[in-house]
Amino acid sequence: MKNLLVTGGCGFIGTNFIRHLLEESDFAGKIINVDSLTYAANPENLSDIETNFPDRYLFIRADICNRESIAEIFDKQQIDSICHFAAESHVDRSIVKPDTFIQTNIIGTFNLLELVRERSEQIRLFHHISTDEVFGSLGNDGFFTEQTSYKPNNPYSASKAASDHLVRAYHKTYGISVTISNCSNNYGPYQFPEKLIPLMIINALKGKPLPVYGDGRNIRDWLFVRDHCTAIWKIMKEGRKGETYNIGGNNELENIKLVEMVCDILDEFEKRPGNKSRRELITFVKDRPGHDRRYAIDSAKLQQELKWEPEEFFESGIRKTIKWYLQNQKWVDRVNTGEYQEWVKEHYHYR
Ligand code: NAD
Ligand code: TYD
Repeated sequence: MKNLLVTGGCGFIGTNFIRHLLEESDFAGKIINVDSLTYAANPENLSDIETNFPDRYLFIRADICNRESIAEIFDKQQIDSICHFAAESHVDRSIVKPDTFIQTNIIGTFNLLELVRERSEQIRLFHHISTDEVFGSLGNDGFFTEQTSYKPNNPYSASKAASDHLVRAYHKTYGISVTISNCSNNYGPYQFPEKLIPLMIINALKGKPLPVYGDGRNIRDWLFVRDHCTAIWKIMKEGRKGETYNIGGNNELENIKLVEMVCDILDEFEKRPGNKSRRELITFVKDRPGHDRRYAIDSAKLQQELKWEPEEFFESGIRKTIKWYLQNQKWVDRVNTGEYQEWVKEHYHYR
């Protein structure tokens, strides 16, 4: 992999992945990061990478829904492999307005696949990043395996499911070289503060209510983002073509327990005025429609076949994450107010 196209590299996981590849892994090629810079992106995440790796990192602002501009990038940059993160990623937004989810997640992925199909000699790998949410909801028992049937319950997961099916079909029909990974909920630095963990950290710091949906007993299976990145890179290097791998850290938690944990760690790091517990801020609110009850991943295939293991324990990962948000409040303010969007408009022009 000499010229690796990373789509959506200015978002949460993409940023962590690019950092991992250039700073920590054995990847020796060049990364071309293509991102349209939606509200969820922040190109400042990688400004030091731009400085430190001038020959091995290039950012281009472009929309994967615009096939012509992406085709130009494929050819000019002599792309030989792809890691596809770009997506609309927030379930609540998909419920209010699904349009962009259909465009980016389905049509955008389809565009990339078509471009790969036209260049099947040139492209060695298309790795597709997906989610465990495509499998729908579990009851009290059981795990999602690679054999679990798809039953998405909201527009986000349905759009991701559609993209997974397209990737698989392009492998079966046209023989293009693909791998797919379906991962559980990630947490860590650079996550946009609309997702559960960063939202709770930021609100708790500001003394704002902490909105917990429904009875708070929904379960998510949390994985530290760096562990997701090591798994992706392993699959890209060693995974069997045409195969899907589930990624998860065996770390199921009820939302309410997680929010209480965030409150307690914050109280320990930074006392609330009056020394009151931040748990007092927890507010149960109306449930999300179609809210999946439980996700839990069985990643035995990845662990046995490719010898991957997560490194971070949840107790240490959540502390690192909370510390990162405490130390990067300027980042939070800038993404929250959209201040950096002004900067984006001045500095980056669409291809
Ligand atoms: P994110 O919302 O933080 O980042 C998405 C990035 O994609 C942003 O930088 C955005 O600007 C870019 N993007 C969106 N539309 C685009 C378009 N049309 N053209 C080019 N770029 C575009 O999301 P994330 O949490 O980093 O998720 C990345 C991928 O991982 C997604 O495919 C998501 O489905 C998947 N995933 C996420 C999680 C999670 O817990 N966050 C878990 C499993 C899988
Ligand atoms: P989220 O971070 O949106 O991830 P996903 O929906 O993709 O799993 O939500 C994680 C869990 O937290 C999910 O069960 C919904 C719940 N949640 C709340 O209770 N309150 C909130 O404000 C948010 C954003 C999520």
